[in-house]
Amino acid sequence: MLMLTNYSLKKYHTFGTDVYASYFTEINSVNDFKALQKEAIYTSHTSLILGGGSNLLFTKNFNGLVIKNNLKGIDIVKQDADFVYVKAAAGENWHQFVLWCVNHNYGGIENLSLIPGCVGASPMQNIGAYGVEIKDVCHEVNTIDVNSGEEKKFSNVACKFGYRESVFKHVYKNKYLITSVIFKLNKKPVFNTSYGAIEQELKNMGITQASVKAISDAVINIRSSKLPDPAKIGNAGSFFKNPEVSKQKHDELKQQHPNLVAYVLDNGNYKLAAGWLIEQCDFKGKRFGDAGVHVNQALVLVNYGTANGSEIYNLSQQILDAVQKTFGVTLEREVNIY
Ligand code: EPU
Repeated sequence: MLMLTNYSLKKYHTFGTDVYASYFTEINSVNDFKALQKEAIYTSHTSLILGGGSNLLFTKNFNGLVIKNNLKGIDIVKQDADFVYVKAAAGENWHQFVLWCVNHNYGGIENLSLIPGCVGASPMQNIGAYGVEIKDVCHEVNTIDVNSGEEKKFSNVACKFGYRESVFKHVYKNKYLITSVIFKLNKKPVFNTSYGAIEQELKNMGITQASVKAISDAVINIRSSKLPDPAKIGNAGSFFKNPEVSKQKHDELKQQHPNLVAYVLDNGNYKLAAGWLIEQCDFKGKRFGDAGVHVNQALVLVNYGTANGSEIYNLSQQILDAVQKTFGVTLEREVNIY
């Protein structure tokens, strides 16, 4: 197995900042990982498993071993008249996997088209967009314990999915290597076009009959028009979560700010659009050197070229402080900070 030292991670994470890992290797099979687990370099260093690197920000060099998960393969594990269970290896590119499902007319993840990253990261933060989350389609997550090497399966329930949350993000952070995910997809797709922008985009496209492919195309159009392409401008999607507040807090804010963008939740609380809060604090489109806030979506922080992780982190702190001061609302970072 090739072990590189003092290796640049620039092209391995979507913020594209120039940081270095003390050691870097890639695994192409489960056996590669099991072999690595026996090596001294693994047992004596902190390690970080990297998928597409699309939800993290390095604020400094990584003093340890970075393991790029390159496990590949897409297989149907079982099916009946209604459902198909598709197993995708963790290192598969997420969007390519979505397109594979779209081309087979398997429904369930078309609303999640064009999300950057790999399959293995999708359950970690329960990726979601346009009314669909991984928790709606995830059947099982296959993992290996990074310490004992034991294989362990997590059912949907065991993943404890929440809004951009799962056990892999907190309780079991860096404890399991995700090897593959089994998705339960629909052979007779039921479409979720409840998110207004999808309906509108289908109309713009002249589509009268929804289909897996039409929805995927609509989502691709919406995302491409609003969100920066990480291949062109460094970013990690939404930097913050949309905060949840009580009804009382919501009502107070609504009185002071009649244009507040908020959605009522099943538990009676409200989710506020963090993008709106940040925009009201005048950060949208602002640039500080090469670190900035995206011009079309204030929830997305960007690296215009040579920003470093600390500059982006400091900008996120300025935003947190401003939103706290203006609205008395605490934003939480969605992106993992290293
Ligand atoms: N808004 C503003 N200003 C902005 C951005 C948003 O006023 O700069 C307001 C608008 O009223 C808009 C509303 O906020 O209608 C919601 O905006 P948007 O539809 O863009 O969605 P979001 O809540 O900002 C979430 C996810 C995105 C996902 C979209 C679509 C989070 C943290 N983000 O963003 O996910 O694509 O919904 O479902 O929940 C990601 O997680 O990386 C991500 C991009």
